[in-house]
Amino acid sequence: MSTPPAGKARLLPVDSSGIARDLRSRAAHEAHFGSLPLIQGPRIGKPGPLVHEIEKSGLRGRGGGWFPTARKIHAVVESAGARRAWSAGRKPVVIANAMEGEPASSKDAVLLGHSPHLVLDGIAALSATIGATNAYIAVHRGSPVIDVVVRALAERNDQITIALVTPPARYVSSEESALAHWIGDGMGTPVFGKRPFERGVDDRPTQVQNAETMAHIGLIARYGGEWFASVGETSAPGTCLVSVGGAVNTPGVIEVEVGTPVTEIIKRCNGLSTEVSGFLTGGYGGGWAGYDALMNASWSPDSVAAAGGVIGAGILWAFDAHDCPITAMARVARWMAGESAGQCGPCRFGLPSLADDLDVLSARSALSADLQRLTSRLPMVQQRGGCKHPDGVARFITSGLQVFRAEVAHHVHGRCSADTHHTSVITPLPIIDQRTTPVGFPGKDFK
Ligand SMILES: Cc1cc2nc3c(=O)[nH]c(=O)nc-3n(C[C@H](O)[C@H](O)[C@H](O)COP(=O)(O)O)c2cc1C
Ligand code: SF4
Repeated sequence: MSTPPAGKARLLPVDSSGIARDLRSRAAHEAHFGSLPLIQGPRIGKPGPLVHEIEKSGLRGRGGGWFPTARKIHAVVESAGARRAWSAGRKPVVIANAMEGEPASSKDAVLLGHSPHLVLDGIAALSATIGATNAYIAVHRGSPVIDVVVRALAERNDQITIALVTPPARYVSSEESALAHWIGDGMGTPVFGKRPFERGVDDRPTQVQNAETMAHIGLIARYGGEWFASVGETSAPGTCLVSVGGAVNTPGVIEVEVGTPVTEIIKRCNGLSTEVSGFLTGGYGGGWAGYDALMNASWSPDSVAAAGGVIGAGILWAFDAHDCPITAMARVARWMAGESAGQCGPCRFGLPSLADDLDVLSARSALSADLQRLTSRLPMVQQRGGCKHPDGVARFITSGLQVFRAEVAHHVHGRCSADTHHTSVITPLPIIDQRTTPVGFPGKDFK
């Protein structure tokens, strides 16, 4: 194993003034990280030896679910073997998911904007380990980092050719089965009953990992699993990227050890800019956490969950106490309903009904019976869709009704205690208009 560079920041190393370094060129990248070692491939149906380092590292995926990466590797390789894929010319496929469908997330764009080769190294290393013959990096159409990726790919000479694909910038087109569907058949919709690790692109075993997860693999391939696990928590080792937004003085993407106190993260963003009534964690498929609960938590899957939130894709959004949370939730729920693939009942009928109920509550014309109808509808959309999109929306609303219960009660009585009751275009939570333009969050601007 080679010697890791000094400094706490692993994915986004900083210069002496604390600014993330520009490692876009291959020369700058290798001068900092060293070159990627030769990665051995699979033998007799078992992944190459890098899998043992990934097991030791305890790496869990950073795309939202925090699923153990080594388990996915074994599942893909076993699936390939079990289906005689190797002899039938149906070898595994690798996809880096850099779609970043969550409007409040910027971490993958910031990572690619500074260190594209680290993500590409992870793709190359993972592909070699599982014997993949096709590898893709998916960045949403119109993304400002497409040019950076194109330039980085032109500098590579990997064993495998990594292809850039640009599916539509829709929330559900970044779900893993939708990505495999897009690459195989040109349709960016989730597929029922086909799990990519068994039947992904062209029905081949397909390993989808978030862009940040790939970058961690690029580091583990160089410095080993023990090094990776030397920081963070036992149940979730390593560092992670956090997109911090809303009512903080300096919003942006920072890298922290898993388990860093939330107060420390806020401090690194130069503190809260105003009074905050709660935090949105993990994005619109994540959940709300109360102010006190989250300020006493640390940034790890278990601790954020204990505070009522979801670490998910690493989003921490401080909600300005002067804004109406019910109106903000109504607008996000309507947007999320419009982002569904519209192919299952919970999305076609359930999400628009939830958005209607929230609109009534937001307009302060709801009665207790309307609130009851909303709460009784929420479980009806859960675990019934072809993908987890409706579950995420239900969690977003359920946790919001709980965290902002006092405000909900005000609204049922025709009142709103916020100064700003956004009803139209302006919203304290970002919404992606025109499907491609990020609104209200800095950090996606890479030229
Ligand atoms: C509706 C929906 C949207 C998703 N959007 C993203 C996304 O933008 N980026 C991402 O990495 N994962 C996203 N995911 C999770 C992926 O399906 C998949 O689990 C992930 O890319 C796996 O990578 P990981 O194991 O490295 O986290 C989404 C899931 C759902 C249900
Ligand atoms: S649950 Fe919704 S987003 Fe997911 S596949 Fe069904 S219609 Fe599409």
